[in-house]
Amino acid sequence: MADNLRVAVLISGRGTNLQALIDACAKNDFPAEIVRVISNNEDAFGLKIAQAAGLSTTVINHRGFKNRTSFEETLSADLEEHGTELICLAGFMRLLTSGFVRYWHDRLINIHPSLLPAFKGLNTHRRTIEEGVRVAGCTVHFVRADMDAGPIIAQAAVAVLPDDDESTLASRILAQEHVIFPLALRLIASGRIKVINEIVQIDGELTSPDPLVSPKLN
Ligand code: GAR
Repeated sequence: MADNLRVAVLISGRGTNLQALIDACAKNDFPAEIVRVISNNEDAFGLKIAQAAGLSTTVINHRGFKNRTSFEETLSADLEEHGTELICLAGFMRLLTSGFVRYWHDRLINIHPSLLPAFKGLNTHRRTIEEGVRVAGCTVHFVRADMDAGPIIAQAAVAVLPDDDESTLASRILAQEHVIFPLALRLIASGRIKVINEIVQIDGELTSPDPLVSPKLN
């Protein structure tokens, strides 16, 4: 246990990705532990999830600060007090300044519900359907100053189905988010990831997983 990577999870809402990380960390051989859960929203359901798991939580409400920098100084102070080595943004819906992002360089990861660099920003599922793309998915990446940019650690793809609406597509992607976020965390915590020229290299990666072709015909 002593050598586990010390992780803080930042949330704003329902916390299903937080739950996936909690479940992963509960496994015997998992090389990370969650030392702090911070929400910028006191009503976030994820706080209840964290508390039910016996985790240390706090609310740091951005509305109580005069600007982004002072909010983030408080955030960083709390993260450091808890010995945070890696921050996971799990549905944390605040943009972070370049100063914060630089300070936590390669120690800050985010999950985003699209196959980045496609569909940065909000309403990804709606835009995916509107564009008629056939393959969608999710991404875990190191955070850089530009929104939804940074070296990609893991992605999962799903087919977009003819009768999909925003919510069916979102839930199929969410199930994959719950797979790749713990996967990315495990890779980082076990020291298998290097970022070289802004590209992630993974030690011991297997080649040739199955391709996903969409549409699929009988
Ligand atoms: C997730 O789908 C996550 O990918 C998305 O918010 C949702 C949070 O759900 N994040 C973003 O859109 C960040 N740009 P959760 O609170 O149940 O984990």
